[in-house]
Amino acid sequence: FTCDLIRNFSIIAHIDHGKSTLADRLLELTGTIKKKEVGKNEQVLDKLKVERERGITVKAQTASMIHSFGGRKHILNLIDTPGHVDFAWEVSRSLAACQGALLLVDASQGVQAQTISVFHIAQERGLKIIPVLNKIDLPAAQPERIAAQMQSTFGTNPEDIIRISAKTGRGVEDVLQAIVERIPPPSGTTTSPLKAFLFDSMYDRYRGVISLVAIQDGILKKGDRVASCHTKKKYEITDIGILNPEEVPVTSLHPGQVGYIACNMKESSEAHIGDTLHRAGASVDPMPGFKPAKAMVYAGIFPIDTSDFPKLEESIKRLALTDRSVTIQRESSTALGQGCRLGFLGTLHMDVFRQRLEDEHDANIIITAPTVPYKIVYKDKEVYVSNPTEFPDSVDVSSKVKEVQEPVVKASIIVPEEYFGDMMDLCFSHRAEELEHKYLDAGTGTESRIMLNCIIPLSEIVTDFFDQLKSRSSGFASFDYEEAGYKPSNLAKMVFLLNGKPVDALALIVHRSHEDAIGKLWVKKLVKVIPRQMYEVPIQAAVGKKIIARETLSAYRADVTAGLYGGHVERKMKVLERQKEGKARMKRMGTVDMPQEAFFEIMSSK
Ligand code: GTP
Repeated sequence: FTCDLIRNFSIIAHIDHGKSTLADRLLELTGTIKKKEVGKNEQVLDKLKVERERGITVKAQTASMIHSFGGRKHILNLIDTPGHVDFAWEVSRSLAACQGALLLVDASQGVQAQTISVFHIAQERGLKIIPVLNKIDLPAAQPERIAAQMQSTFGTNPEDIIRISAKTGRGVEDVLQAIVERIPPPSGTTTSPLKAFLFDSMYDRYRGVISLVAIQDGILKKGDRVASCHTKKKYEITDIGILNPEEVPVTSLHPGQVGYIACNMKESSEAHIGDTLHRAGASVDPMPGFKPAKAMVYAGIFPIDTSDFPKLEESIKRLALTDRSVTIQRESSTALGQGCRLGFLGTLHMDVFRQRLEDEHDANIIITAPTVPYKIVYKDKEVYVSNPTEFPDSVDVSSKVKEVQEPVVKASIIVPEEYFGDMMDLCFSHRAEELEHKYLDAGTGTESRIMLNCIIPLSEIVTDFFDQLKSRSSGFASFDYEEAGYKPSNLAKMVFLLNGKPVDALALIVHRSHEDAIGKLWVKKLVKVIPRQMYEVPIQAAVGKKIIARETLSAYRADVTAGLYGGHVERKMKVLERQKEGKARMKRMGTVDMPQEAFFEIMSSK
């Protein structure tokens, strides 16, 4: 296969607009996979259990297909991309190996917040964009209107838009044709020195790290010796092939081809995403990589049973091998013992990681409230703090701290006009600034939608923002954000005292304008989950020396602990089981018993 017979593309879309369904249809139509029986709706590319359960793509998967067009066989490499705001980094990573992208839009829902953000990522990378309207089989589909919307939002020529139903397969042939006709083939020659772009990696228990590469120039064969531009380390290619979608070994990969390699890399960190591999001994200019994933949300993860820590740490490390964007550090807490502080791309990412730990590694864990990385500006230095325990106790003129800054994001919300007021309220109550809005379907009549942009602190959107956005807009609002630097902010550390003693694992960083509300809410939650003692226990929230809120846990009387725990039934059962096994431990906090289960309960309640 020479370059002109190869096309590398991605499907980009807002969540649920039908990316995985279209990918399956393409694989079927090209005979890469067998057509599934009617009623079976398990998507081929969504491999992880979490992905199937939640219906979202978390980790990008890739597949090559062979398709005859104009009497010639072509290789079409589909580089799958994840579909959630948290994973924008993975999207841009996948697109780096493509020359084109299918921009998929649901014909009943129209352009959504992520449609816009993925469009921009693809455009910035100079990709050929093929606009596709999906779900035209739905009675609620309005292809004409949405086509007009795409024209006004992206400048798309309505004649270029392909209308399909990924579900029934209608129009999908046209998509295949457009991929071949409209997307430029990769450039590259067999005679230039080898350059292979490393854009993804996974971990295999037996073979170590498996990397996905796109060959820019030269030919890569089994047994070849290569070196990394980034680490300068040398490797021998022990295994090479394409994903079809399962691994199929080949003898060599040519320019423009996408495939997998194994080369005795032991550590995932050796496979540097964005790296260029070249022939050992020769030297080449690296291809432009891209900035590494940045953790936006941090949380501590502790075992419910403190003696489980070694096992938990092992599980976390194993899981992180398959998810390169997680950062790990050890942390220890007086209240919770030994644990790990992990950095995630966002809260969904955190949730997915937690669920995978529980599902795939059978871990019983407590995860602390998420914290964003704050910047503490001292007179002579700046320090980033992502753990409330490291936050300075007092931030005032007398202290060494000059100012505290918090990360902010540029958020965009797309919502039908009727919910505009509710969205404005939501933004204001979450400290949004610089609000501006514009109509998306200008001049198209009644059912207008609005795009609202604002600058909002990241900490405000990592808690309940997304849930509220959905409930206050009856599910119609879509949301996306990108980093927008740091801003000075009036923040403070809030600590919780049991019987006058602070509990480190419960500390929070709060905006001063919210301190009363948060303090009251948390002491109320605490008084519900902490078992009563033989004597009265004050539960207090404090900022600096000031007590913000207080509840009193009255003294123990017979059988009052029954039914104290509510919420998540399955996890609760797990907790109860462990209690039965007698493994649960009481943590002595000063003079008050705060069981791990109470931490679990408080951290998992909203
Ligand atoms: P992520 O992987 O989370 O990004 O979602 P996705 O974009 O891959 O969406 P997916 O393919 O999982 O489809 C979302 C839902 O829309 C599923 O319930 C599909 O069955 C449905 N769907 C996809 N395409 C069509 C279509 O053409 N018509 C109809 N009626 N439903 C469709």
